[in-house]
Amino acid sequence: MEQTHWYKDRVFYQIWPRSFCDGNGDGVGDLLGVYEKLDYIHDLGCDGIWFSPLYPSPGVDCGYDISNYLDIDSLYGGMEAFRKVLDGAHERGMKVIMDLVVNHTSDEHEWFQKSRRRIEPYTDYYIWRPQRLGGKLPNNWDSVFEGKAWQWDEVRKEYYLHLFAIRQPDLNMDNPLVRQEVKRIMRFWLELGVDGFREDVITFISKRDGLPNDYFMPTVRGIKHYNHGPRVHQYLEEFKRDALSRYDCFTIGEAPLVAPAKALDYINEKDGQLNTMIQFQCMNADCFLVDYAVLPFSARRLKRAFDQWQEKLQGKAWNMLYLENHDHPRVISRYGSEKYRAESGKMLAAAYLFQQGTPFIYQGQEIGMVNWRPKHASEYEDVQTRWHYENWFADVLSDETRLKWCHRASRDSARTPMQWSAEKNAGFTTADKPWFSINENYREVNVAAQEKGPDSVLQFYRKAIAIRKRLRVVRDGTYVDHQKLSGSLFVYSRTLGSERLLVVCSFVERPVRFRAPRGFDLAHGELLLKNYGSELSGNGFTTKPYECRVYHFT
Ligand code: NOJ
Repeated sequence: MEQTHWYKDRVFYQIWPRSFCDGNGDGVGDLLGVYEKLDYIHDLGCDGIWFSPLYPSPGVDCGYDISNYLDIDSLYGGMEAFRKVLDGAHERGMKVIMDLVVNHTSDEHEWFQKSRRRIEPYTDYYIWRPQRLGGKLPNNWDSVFEGKAWQWDEVRKEYYLHLFAIRQPDLNMDNPLVRQEVKRIMRFWLELGVDGFREDVITFISKRDGLPNDYFMPTVRGIKHYNHGPRVHQYLEEFKRDALSRYDCFTIGEAPLVAPAKALDYINEKDGQLNTMIQFQCMNADCFLVDYAVLPFSARRLKRAFDQWQEKLQGKAWNMLYLENHDHPRVISRYGSEKYRAESGKMLAAAYLFQQGTPFIYQGQEIGMVNWRPKHASEYEDVQTRWHYENWFADVLSDETRLKWCHRASRDSARTPMQWSAEKNAGFTTADKPWFSINENYREVNVAAQEKGPDSVLQFYRKAIAIRKRLRVVRDGTYVDHQKLSGSLFVYSRTLGSERLLVVCSFVERPVRFRAPRGFDLAHGELLLKNYGSELSGNGFTTKPYECRVYHFT
């Protein structure tokens, strides 16, 4: 089928279902709640939705442990509610993409239950290995979430591989029957009318033959043997050929540890297997590769990531733009300032929304939600956070220090319920108790208040998205970073013929003197967007804390 690349004109909104909106009053977000908020998402200017997993799941990894790929969890309202939301979205001209999690399943999936009992044809659906001599594990790989990557199964009397939680066994993608299942899942949802997939850790699906030990990495040992593994392109090509290419759909691959050159193997527009990728380099401006290896924030590092992806993909492949999702703490708390919450929230929006690519906004980002910091570690729900708290340096660091560490790095910081209003439970649920804690700042930071305030973060996002949609230069213009060396200002332009856009962002509180780059006369530009007043002095200005401005030149 002809691929129209419709996603290039869209802005997506990510829904992490448990915490978005509870429509049936049981304390957990659901599809009835989503249905009620479709107009809100549409009014924001978003015309695409990515749903984090909605499938039946025991919830060990909040839905990323799937026990049935062809259904919707009754917790969220089941298939009927999903169809209603899908139709409601389509009626409003919005596209809907699903999370496709096929590197692993839940251990409650029927395939795993049969595989562990060696019931055909499921025996080789997973990666099983016998115990080695001396009771040793099959290899030295680590899991990303919980200790070693191998778990002994008493039923089958073998180890199975789990790159994530213990209860998330990895599928054996080398088995053609497993690939048939993946294609069946894709077709099932595409036939139902969904518009594409966000493919979870898709670069992990092919493991090196022989599963060799990894003596290279200090942590997440093994990753060099399964990230971008030997047959990953072959398998993705097969999925594209037999399923995806038959629909005008959108595919995004989640890709940890990928740089642009490597990404082009997956997403180049000539013969790539996916449309775009979730890269992690823009998430590494205050940490080393993973959120828990914390470093001070560096605007230069962030800019370098932005520049690389913009420059190296230009004309060859399409970017996916984001600053938040359910796997990272809130961006204002990381790259901005909670003291200047609204100002820095707006600046961060301007810093990424005018780049080339398809932007994604994570629920709550558009109102400037910030990190949740529990008083007790026992309040964390996330499997990764709990394991980290209990095991990382537990013998040398105090409970308090480890709790602070989690405050800084936990994914739960960004998973608290959406703050709809100043009413009880932030208007998220009518139940007495929501499934998860609510950030205490909901009385000030909420949608209802920001609907009323003309200068709120929410209104800023609306304006920014509307500008993005209106100006072709944002979709197609060439990108230039004008102050690569600055550690405080990010100044980029987009140019398409005689039309130009200039975006000025300050990443610091202190005043910085900004002078327009050569060839730009600010007095002749139209100031489309700003987070403060707008005086000029000469062909520039002195920035206020986290100031941003967007100028348009025709
Ligand atoms: C990436 C997902 O975004 C994350 O939430 C999940 O825990 C892991 N993959 C495992 O599925």
